[in-house]
Amino acid sequence: MHFLVTGISGQIGSEAAQSFARLGNVIAADRNVLDLSQPHMLSARLDELKPDVIVNAAAYTTVDRAEDERELAFTVNAESPGIMAQWAAAHGAPFVHLSTDYVFDGSGEMPWREDDVAAPLSVYGASKFAGEQRIRAAAGHHLIVRTSWIYAAHGANFLRTISRLAREKEELKIVADQIGAPTSAAFVATRLTKIVQANMEDLPAAFSRCGGVLHMAATGHTSWHGFASTIVEGLRQRGVILAVRRILPIPSEAYPTKAVRPRNSRLDLTRLRECFEIRPPSWQALLEPEIDGLAPPQT
Ligand SMILES: NC(=O)c1ccc[n+]([C@@H]2O[C@H](COP(=O)([O-])OP(=O)(O)OC[C@H]3O[C@@H](n4cnc5c(N)ncnc54)[C@H](OP(=O)(O)O)[C@@H]3O)[C@@H](O)[C@H]2O)c1
Repeated sequence: MHFLVTGISGQIGSEAAQSFARLGNVIAADRNVLDLSQPHMLSARLDELKPDVIVNAAAYTTVDRAEDERELAFTVNAESPGIMAQWAAAHGAPFVHLSTDYVFDGSGEMPWREDDVAAPLSVYGASKFAGEQRIRAAAGHHLIVRTSWIYAAHGANFLRTISRLAREKEELKIVADQIGAPTSAAFVATRLTKIVQANMEDLPAAFSRCGGVLHMAATGHTSWHGFASTIVEGLRQRGVILAVRRILPIPSEAYPTKAVRPRNSRLDLTRLRECFEIRPPSWQALLEPEIDGLAPPQT
């Protein structure tokens, strides 16, 4: 079985390339192999690579910059996944794709269900939702996994930023009115692998039964302020010497960004449990090994 994994330099893609290698041959596709900003090239490249299953973890993910690069964000996040999904549908290859809580407008306090109405607030969110629609329209066997607040001990993410800032600054001011479930890239990659492994005998049938959109995240929720405080506590417990003394909660308005973020990013995980029998750990439990992974302490 040949698994094509894209976005292999990214947080989820790098973990997925490792975990899918346990199931078969991984075709590890960075942008030199498959450039999603060049949609017209993709079908011919896929003809050469001949994957049995595609796991698309590549995306244009710089949320604020997307406000100025709308066309590129839509090409990478919508047009290209659509073309890859069309190729997959035409060749009977199941297509696994990553999407985001940013497709929602963040209103209310209830966890978002898969069939709730999407109303993205940002260009990034709109481009990801357009990608979902194109994949659905391709009408192949697909799984669109929406996740939230991804971090890892590697890559550019909130965990690493807080780990650095806590060493440099006495005071941090962190947004406390956006709520979500921090989720490790390793968790998403290993559970995607588990879903595929459990249904290896007939993945198309499994995706017909339980495919479409699926929410996948840690259980529980917190704010960015709560997440930052827990990271700092975890670093202190491991003996890391930190400069930080105060972590102050602030409202989103006090930290203006080009792209508007949803206030409520909670994802309903019922479908994940019922369809694939996956019971995610708490966000705090997922964080522990990633803080371990930050060692040795950075200076
Ligand atoms: N990060 C989050 O908090 C979050 C939350 C919810 C959902 N998601 C979704 O989860 C998926 C993975 O996110 P992530 O955080 O792991 O991403 P990431 O770390 O930002 O990595 C993005 C990956 O996409 C690749 N890429 C970007 N433009 C490309 C292009 N034109 N052609 C080919 N590859 C390209 C990057 O390659 P280069 O290194 O060459 O740029 C990189 O490998 C995405 O679909 C994202 O929307 C992320």
